[in-house]
Amino acid sequence: MRTQVAIIGAGPSGLLLSQLLHKAGVDCIVFERRSPDYVLSRIRAGVLEQGMVGMLEQAGVSERMHREGLPHDGFAISVGDTRLRIDLKGLTGSRVMVYGQTEVTKDLMDAHTARGAQVIYEAENVTPLDFDTDHPRITYEKDGVTHEVACDFICGCDGYHGVSRAAVPDGAITEFEKVYPFGWLGILSYVKPVDHELIYANHPNGFALASMRSETLSRYYIQVPAGTDVNKWSDDAIWAELKVRLGAEAAAKMETGPSIEKSIAPLRSFVAEPLRFGRLFLAGDAGHIVPPTGAKGLNLAASDIHYLSSGLIEYYGEKSAAGIDAYSQHALARIWKAERFSWWMTSLLHQFPELGAFNARMQQADMDYLASSEAAQRSLAENYVGLPF
Ligand code: FAD
Ligand code: DHB
Repeated sequence: MRTQVAIIGAGPSGLLLSQLLHKAGVDCIVFERRSPDYVLSRIRAGVLEQGMVGMLEQAGVSERMHREGLPHDGFAISVGDTRLRIDLKGLTGSRVMVYGQTEVTKDLMDAHTARGAQVIYEAENVTPLDFDTDHPRITYEKDGVTHEVACDFICGCDGYHGVSRAAVPDGAITEFEKVYPFGWLGILSYVKPVDHELIYANHPNGFALASMRSETLSRYYIQVPAGTDVNKWSDDAIWAELKVRLGAEAAAKMETGPSIEKSIAPLRSFVAEPLRFGRLFLAGDAGHIVPPTGAKGLNLAASDIHYLSSGLIEYYGEKSAAGIDAYSQHALARIWKAERFSWWMTSLLHQFPELGAFNARMQQADMDYLASSEAAQRSLAENYVGLPF
């Protein structure tokens, strides 16, 4: 078998890349380790930047998002019983779209099915080979049979634990990492959101976030120590903690109910440099991770795909390698700014008892400055709605 571009991973990065390449007439095959149902069962991000919304439009998969997604003009930061509203629309002229990663992935999967695209699910032992030559190839196993696919390029869209980054020889890659001593315990429940906008809270007990997926489906998170067992937190205990951390106004309005999903995500900042090794490219979580506080993980995956898809389309259409040659540098410039913002939002809004009293005062000063300065709020808003591609 042969294809022009072999894509490893059918998460949002891989499927968006495949969709954009297909629209431009570039041939590709996606190789995914899991089943479609498994991929859709992972509850993750919920906030889309305008740039990502534009890419979903370009990919022809935005119709349901525009119908069912919730445009948000602002969000709140709550400290104790004080709330500061960040007026995204007023400060930047832009807004964000609340629409779950699961829905984005489902829309992309449906578009792939509709056009009969090649996505090989439950492909085992996918291995990128010979990407340091002009003849890269992929091998994988399916139903006990080994297959080989020759290609021009391999795109590693297989997430943080994927095989693509791991296939790069030691010494060719530099990794930058910061691990936080806590995670986010997330809960999904069919209850009305506590407010029409998101609330990010810093409380002495730890961070909390009130988010949503629709007017009847809420998503909440609380900071928990690293290594916490999710089974130690009953639904009732989580609701009680959310009421404490989100403040009295939210507590009075909060609807509670049984969880339909409950999981813990560790927090990490990570960047691999560069993002290209011969004919292998890394995109999305395969190349970088941000802590979720700034809602940047999914959006960064989309901006990588913007640079990578346009480079590959230019390569096949105009016979120019300029776009793919610049991919790593262009993508990393934007990635590091999102890393900075996500680290800063995380530092502002979480409890770090191990960092002591000085750090706590710095956090307080940062918050006071934000509350008193429109310039500081505009800087936050500009980053939150997404820096230009
Ligand atoms: P992924 O979504 O990880 O997709 C990679 C795909 O590759 C997967 O389908 C995987 O099965 C497949 N794969 C892996 N290994 C192989 C292999 N060897 N062979 C073939 N296929 C393989 N971001 C936010 O902004 N807000 C959040 O609240 C948030 N919560 C998160 C919670 C968790 C638990 C995680 C892990 C991430 C979260 N993120 C969040 C980040 C966001 O979801 C990611 O940035 C986004 O999923 C990146 O998309 P991706 O396609 O690059 O990677
Ligand atoms: C959600 C996740 C985030 O990381 C965030 O900053 C905002 C919302 C969510 O899952 O809804």
